Amino acid sequence: MFDDKKVIFSGMQATGNLTLGNYLGALKNWVDICEDYLTFFCVVDLHSITVRQDPAELRRRSRDLLTLYIAAGLDPEKNCIYYQSHVPNHAELGWILDCFTYVGELERMTQYKDKAAKHADNINAGLLTYPSLMAADILLYQAEYVPVGADQKQHLELARTLAERFNNVYGDVFTVPDIWLGKRGRKIMSLQDPEKKMSKSDENPNASIYLMDDPDTIRRKFKRAVTDSIGAVKYCDEQPGIRNLIDIYCSCTGKSTEECEKEFEGQGYGVFKEAVGEAVVGVLKPLQDRFRELSADKDYIDRMILQNDEKAMYYSEKTMRKVRKKIGFPERPRLK
Ligand code: TYM
Repeated sequence: MFDDKKVIFSGMQATGNLTLGNYLGALKNWVDICEDYLTFFCVVDLHSITVRQDPAELRRRSRDLLTLYIAAGLDPEKNCIYYQSHVPNHAELGWILDCFTYVGELERMTQYKDKAAKHADNINAGLLTYPSLMAADILLYQAEYVPVGADQKQHLELARTLAERFNNVYGDVFTVPDIWLGKRGRKIMSLQDPEKKMSKSDENPNASIYLMDDPDTIRRKFKRAVTDSIGAVKYCDEQPGIRNLIDIYCSCTGKSTEECEKEFEGQGYGVFKEAVGEAVVGVLKPLQDRFRELSADKDYIDRMILQNDEKAMYYSEKTMRKVRKKIGFPERPRLK
């Protein structure tokens, strides 16, 4: 809580091409819920370097991601949209929280295990301590709610544990954050293997809808989406492919599962898949147009970056002053 307002914090990595999963699981919810809160939406570039990055590419992608937040409908005059690397307090609190996190807790994280398996030649310490930096992001702003997809649940639980552990030693320093899962789209699955989450890093480009895919590509990918031989548009465990398509359709149109099942009753998968493709095009096309428009307005984006850096510094510094004092770091002397 700051200024009597509850705080929302969330972030995304600018690595790889953002997918429909990132949009429906996170970004879209941010836009839907941001109104009555003090909000911080961060481009988490410090997290990105836990995997090797090409510097020019990382810089470009980070800028694109920040622009995309705005294109999606987050007004940067009201929402604090900024780069993690512009606010050194993230790294400082990250280090402090490292000293309150047990290695065993970090080694249990499924994302760490997955990434370590994928990047066996570069299992760096940052990959392991990634979740304490993520906790720092959240706790720095005293966030009450963290809107993310279901894959971040374990990380959020650790953030809560760290907040409680720290508060137990030093008194009430941090707000204990809650995960905020959207009603729909919490876990969008791969179009080629509905048992697997849709992911930026999937090697098969047909498995994911990228936010910048053109309409024909989107339609084609849905046409090729893996379904089953049952032949009914029903939301059930036996039909994970169809269930995923229903989730996507309902997220994009605002319709309920029942409405969707009724709409496509007795119709083949072809008709349904086409409708899902159109619904997604209907959501992504305006987002892409707005993104292109905004990208061309360099001055506006630059101004928003500077303005929001200051805002993020201001609020994070409030927490850091408290933390440094509690921990016992010496104050900077003030000369008379
Ligand atoms: P990242 O960049 O992997 O993903 C960004 C957001 O997208 C959600 N998401 C999905 N939701 C539904 N279905 C999917 N298939 C899907 N794929 C991704 C993620 O849950 C996430 O909300 N560790 C975070 C970034 C981070 C962060 C934070 C988030 C760093 N610090 C503090 C919240 C608060 C990550 O790598 O997200």
